[in-house]
Amino acid sequence: MSVHQVTVSAPVNIAVVKYWGKRDTALLLPTNSSLSLTLSQDDLRSTTTVRIDPKFEADRLWLNGKEEDVTSNKRMVNVVRELRALRKSLQDADSALPVIDSWRMHVCSENNFPTAAGLASSASGFAALTFGIAQALDIAERIPRAQLSRLARLGSGSACRSLFGGFVAWNMGSAADGNDSVAEQVADESHWADMEALILVASDARKDTPSTAGMQLTVETSALLQSRIKDVVPKRMEEMRAAIAAKDYDAFAELTMKDSNQFHAVCLDTFPPISYMNDVSRAVVHLITSYNALFTQPGAAGGPKKGYRAAYTFDAGPNAVLYVRREHVAEVLAIVNAVFPVPTTDREAYLGRAAQYVGKE
Ligand code: PMV
Repeated sequence: MSVHQVTVSAPVNIAVVKYWGKRDTALLLPTNSSLSLTLSQDDLRSTTTVRIDPKFEADRLWLNGKEEDVTSNKRMVNVVRELRALRKSLQDADSALPVIDSWRMHVCSENNFPTAAGLASSASGFAALTFGIAQALDIAERIPRAQLSRLARLGSGSACRSLFGGFVAWNMGSAADGNDSVAEQVADESHWADMEALILVASDARKDTPSTAGMQLTVETSALLQSRIKDVVPKRMEEMRAAIAAKDYDAFAELTMKDSNQFHAVCLDTFPPISYMNDVSRAVVHLITSYNALFTQPGAAGGPKKGYRAAYTFDAGPNAVLYVRREHVAEVLAIVNAVFPVPTTDREAYLGRAAQYVGKE
């Protein structure tokens, strides 16, 4: 094998059952399972080029055009170490794989959207990084995708879900070493093909509280988080899987909005409190609630209301993602643009495929 260079891209994913809290901060093992939708790569993606070369003297990393100190990024170091160890064990087992242990790599990664503004940039970033390095080391097709998702998890928890397309669960697992804390595809991107995501950018400023620090504080101080983990999420994961399997939009929308609300309630229950949503975010919640109220009717006892048109969800930032069926996209966009002509720009996205190749040299 001579010089090896690949370019890959990985999409953003936006959770409808949120991950918030780690039970192991080194291995990035979550306190609850989560479920997300992977968006199409045309809209929000990270593109990463990895070159491994016997002539390189050191590993180097460029993020959005700026060189970063790769040794200071512990998570990146962990992901690279694990990928190299995996390559070595495959090499030891297969003499056809050349020995490249001493080769260093240069990694260059870019997002086509604002970084760290609560638009899941770390998810697509680490998914692309893991997938790109695995491709450059020629191991990506030799191990199951779930194993790659485990490695992406070491970079950023939510990144494990971007290794798959469509509807993706991250099962929290129970093993102490995290081997079973991996992502799994629940349904592919064609399963519910009229589902679209509208991204309303309320602010593209970097968030004040990075998710790692925020989660840790929530785990340490929020009683509500403990109840969420135990009493709410396990049942919600089952209900969400069932809603997706049946393409039951009413159940999907109600669960999505309730879960976003509870995630932000848990942030406020943190001490000192964390608030990721701003006045524009709250106005979006109010607007969508009023809009849905025009169409919804009571459902069966204990079940969701019937007739939802839009479902909002917010990650660790003020920007909203609306999951809307295609037939209502034009109406929802017209209403949003009429109410927020200036501060909010919107982008439409579709459900997308998993991390993928762009090119190889
Ligand atoms: O993977 P992290 O550390 O960026 O955590 C992201 C957590 C949320 O985006 C708020 C929720 C989720 O499940 O993606």
